[in-house]
Amino acid sequence: MSTLKIENLHVSVAGTLILKGVDLEINSGEIHALMGPNGSGKSTLAYALAGHPNYEVTEGSIELDGENVLEMEADERARHGLYLAFQYPVTIPGVKVADFLRHAVSNVRNPDRKEGTELISMREYRKELYEHLDALGVDRQFARRYLNEGFSGGEKKRMEIVQMAMLKPRFAILDETDSGLDTDAVNVVSEGVQRLSSANQMGVLIITHHERLLQYNIPSQTHVMLAGRIVETGDASLAHELHNLGYASVRERHPDAAAEEEARQKRETVASA
Ligand SMILES: Nc1ncnc2c1ncn2[C@@H]1O[C@H](COP(=O)(O)OP(=O)(O)OP(=O)(O)O)[C@@H](O)[C@H]1O
Ligand SMILES: [Mg+2]
Repeated sequence: MSTLKIENLHVSVAGTLILKGVDLEINSGEIHALMGPNGSGKSTLAYALAGHPNYEVTEGSIELDGENVLEMEADERARHGLYLAFQYPVTIPGVKVADFLRHAVSNVRNPDRKEGTELISMREYRKELYEHLDALGVDRQFARRYLNEGFSGGEKKRMEIVQMAMLKPRFAILDETDSGLDTDAVNVVSEGVQRLSSANQMGVLIITHHERLLQYNIPSQTHVMLAGRIVETGDASLAHELHNLGYASVRERHPDAAAEEEARQKRETVASA
C-alpha cells in the first residue's frame, strides 16, 4: 500500500501566503473529496503537489511512501506516480497528443529512461491509447491534434482523464475535472475514474464544487478548505450538505478562518481599485 502524506503545508504564491498549514493523508485505493469556496486554496494545493515552480513551499512536508516529494522536480513527481488533472488544462501548440503522451508514458513506465532513448513500442502504445480514447468517448482523430489546441472545455477535461488512464498514477488529483462537462460526459468521466481507481488501487483527490463526480466515486473522506486550511473533514454526506447548502454553516463553525477569508478579499478589492 502507498501513502501520500501532507503535513503542516504552507505555500506562498507571488509573495502571499495562501496555504497556512494543510494536513492530509491519502492511502492507495482511497477517494477523498476536497471542497471549499472560490479562492480558498484548493488549486494551490494541487499545484504545490505537482511541483509548479510558482508555488513556494515555505513550511511543512509532502511525502510519498516516506520519500520527500518536495525535493523532486515536477517530472520526477510524475515518475513517482503523481498525476494532476488541471482545472485549466494548458495548450501546447505544435505538440501532438499522441507524441506527447508516448513520451510521458515512456518516462513514467521506465523511470530511469534518458531523453533520446527508445520509447515504448508504437504498436502496443497505439492500441492502448485507442482503447482509452474509445472508453472516454474521444474521437481517435484527437491523437493527431495539437494538445488542447482548439479543444472545447469538455474535450480538454476528457483528455486529462485519457492521460491519467495511460499514465496509471498511484495518486491522482482531479482539479474540477467535472466543470465544463455536459451531463453525459460527467457520467463517462466518472465511470472512467471509477474503473481506473479500482483497477489500479489509485488514490484520488477529487477537487469539486459539485456532487456529480462523487456519485460514482464515493469519497471515504470529504475535506473542506477555508482560507488556506482544511477546517473540517467528514464523510460523503458532508459533500452532499455543502453542495446543497453552500458554505455559510462552515463559516459559522469556523469564525476565525471566515474572518481571514474576508480580510483577504478586502485587501484584494483595495489592491485592484
Ligand atoms: N499566481 C498568483 N498570483 C497571485 N495570487 C494567486 C496566484 N495564484 C493563486 N493566487 C491566489 O490564491 C488564492 C487561492 O487560489 P486557488 O486557485 O488555490 O483557489 P481555489 O480554491 O482553487 O478556487 P476556485 O474554486 O475558484 O478554483 C486566490 O485568492 C488566488 O487569487
Ligand atoms: Mg481552483
